Amino acid sequence: MIVEQNVALAPHNSFGIVAKARELVRVRSEADVVQLLADPRLAASPKFVLGGGSNIVLTGDVRSLVLKVEIAGRRVIEDGPRAAVIEAGAGENWHELVDWTLAQGFGGLENLALIPGTVGAAPVQNIGAYGVELQDRFESLDAVDLRSGRVFTLDARQCAFGYRDSVFKHAAPQGEAGRGMGLAGRALILRVRLRLPKPWRPELGYMDLERKRAEAGAERPTARQVFDWVCAIRRAKLPDPRVLGNAGSFFKNPTVTPEQCTDIIAREPGIVHYPMPDGSVKLAAGWLIDACGWKGKSVGNAGVYEKQALVLVNRGGATGGEVVTLARAIQTSVYERFGIRLEPEPVVV
Ligand code: EPU
Repeated sequence: MIVEQNVALAPHNSFGIVAKARELVRVRSEADVVQLLADPRLAASPKFVLGGGSNIVLTGDVRSLVLKVEIAGRRVIEDGPRAAVIEAGAGENWHELVDWTLAQGFGGLENLALIPGTVGAAPVQNIGAYGVELQDRFESLDAVDLRSGRVFTLDARQCAFGYRDSVFKHAAPQGEAGRGMGLAGRALILRVRLRLPKPWRPELGYMDLERKRAEAGAERPTARQVFDWVCAIRRAKLPDPRVLGNAGSFFKNPTVTPEQCTDIIAREPGIVHYPMPDGSVKLAAGWLIDACGWKGKSVGNAGVYEKQALVLVNRGGATGGEVVTLARAIQTSVYERFGIRLEPEPVVV
């Protein structure tokens, strides 16, 4: 266990916001967590679990004890006729894991290529892209209860996955009784297991991907080809956080009833919308923001990305406060024009 004081967090958040952790512990194994909880002072401190920092907005120095998860390891734990099951440490880089599974000959994660962040953060917000969500490939995970030190395993149902949502995004109830209702701040994910079905089938339902397939004239694409297409699409649309700080989509795509949608279409015929299997209609938040004229606009050093209005960026030296102010201004104008409330995706710390 490595404990550090006054640690700069700019390299640990994809927005590149300048802030400090008063105290940070690098967690490299389960044993580190045991050791941490055996220290009365550290055990009693409020804790903040940090993965790749790709889904947070820091609005100041972090006073809680920051647990920087750096648990490594990747292995194939089952290679059967109907699926392969792989396991990865929570600190592994997500994109490198996707690449590694393909190198092992297992397709299934290619649509989720190039998503920034760590393996441990993937279930927290149920990452998703191009028609696949983590929950579609999820087997189980091991986590440690930061109050009791107990290690427990959760399956997909217990993770309560939703659209960019899980049990890990909801506040923990007070006391011992309510485990399972909300584990935010309470659990540290140690490792994640993923089930990759066989035979592999490409998931090309998204128009952007289908277009790539047609361009390549690939009748029977390989998983590696799909991976390359996803990387190319993302690189064209989304800023690389190493070059321009950002946290991916800043808002969730809102859903409305078909009646609400009909009403909006009557006023805004161009609105981009997708019918969902449950009968609701998903609206493209990027379109709503774009329609309000936000593309390229800024508040201080926080701005709206020129190529994708759903992505807020750090143009250099932005504060978390500027990002939050910009986000609120966008929410207000979308609400005033469309009557729709946009819900932020990242966690504001
Ligand atoms: N659009 C505009 N103007 C914009 C942005 C978008 O008109 O400035 C319209 C376009 O018509 C576009 C449509 O909105 O076709 C949808 O945009 P896009 O295909 O880029 O997808 P998205 O709905 O904005 C979602 C996810 C992304 C994911 C992509 C692909 C959310 C909040 N975002 O974005 O996830 O990569 O689909 O599956 O669901 C993330 O969560 O950080 C993320 C990047």
